[in-house]
Amino acid sequence: MTIRKAVLPVAGFGTRVLPATKAIPKELLPVVDRPALQYVVDEAIEAGVEHIVFVTGRGKGAIEDYFDLAFELETNLRGKASKADILAEVEKTRLPAGGASFTRQQEALGLGHAIWCARDIVGNEPFAILLPDVIVKAEKSCLAQMVDAYNKTGGNIVAVDPVPEERVSSYGVIAPKGERDGPLIEMSAMVEKPPREEAPSNLAITGRYILQPEIFGLLSDQGAGAGGEIQLTDSMARLMETQQFFAYEFDGAPYDCGSKIGYFNAVLAHALDHPEIGAAARDLIARA
Ligand code: G1P
Repeated sequence: MTIRKAVLPVAGFGTRVLPATKAIPKELLPVVDRPALQYVVDEAIEAGVEHIVFVTGRGKGAIEDYFDLAFELETNLRGKASKADILAEVEKTRLPAGGASFTRQQEALGLGHAIWCARDIVGNEPFAILLPDVIVKAEKSCLAQMVDAYNKTGGNIVAVDPVPEERVSSYGVIAPKGERDGPLIEMSAMVEKPPREEAPSNLAITGRYILQPEIFGLLSDQGAGAGGEIQLTDSMARLMETQQFFAYEFDGAPYDCGSKIGYFNAVLAHALDHPEIGAAARDLIARA
């Protein structure tokens, strides 16, 4: 069954980039000229996703407005021939009618709980999850690469990326097993935020998932795990007892926009090859 729906949890406070996130949801912080979240939505759409399920929270209303028709703005731009290019860019941000749903996670109980909040909207079909903190710069979208793999393997797939050993305790980490088939890696276990000395590898889960709907039943009774939160990784580890799971080492560069340095790197990388300001940005860096 094709992957038609994607869940994007956008309820987090963005504490690592305060005070900026007091003014604007962290997902809407601009990376050059578009919100970080736009890159993630574009990635999902490139992978064939038709319906985006946003799990929001209080204070995140700007996200809903961003993906809607901006009537006054568009009417104003339409009246000015010289603004046609900008108008086209603005029109592209609108999600198709009926192509987006918004549900609220009322309490910050963890990623697993946020995904569980989308259970009725996703229903009984395989779906994708994209964590919007992570922007992946890639020739072919990270999720599109995973969907290609999924169309051959079925089951469940998590994107992974090797990280320096001193950083494994910040991520979900997988234990690879057996031979790998190109980017596809069979796995025997996964663990959320292991201490460095207990990590089964340095392959970190990167915030892109394709999961079967049976995950929701497991999330519904999932107890708190690492950090006292209901962890998606813990329910995936249980799902792995009955279903096939693969890790996928994607081709691309991930940027964690939830951290100051990751956000700065994302802005830098996107500025350097931006069609309008790339040359000037490269010139600036060369002179810095
Ligand atoms: C979440 C997941 C973790 C994953 C990470 C990727 O953690 O729980 O498994 O490796 O995203 O960014 P968080 O960063 O929300 O603590």
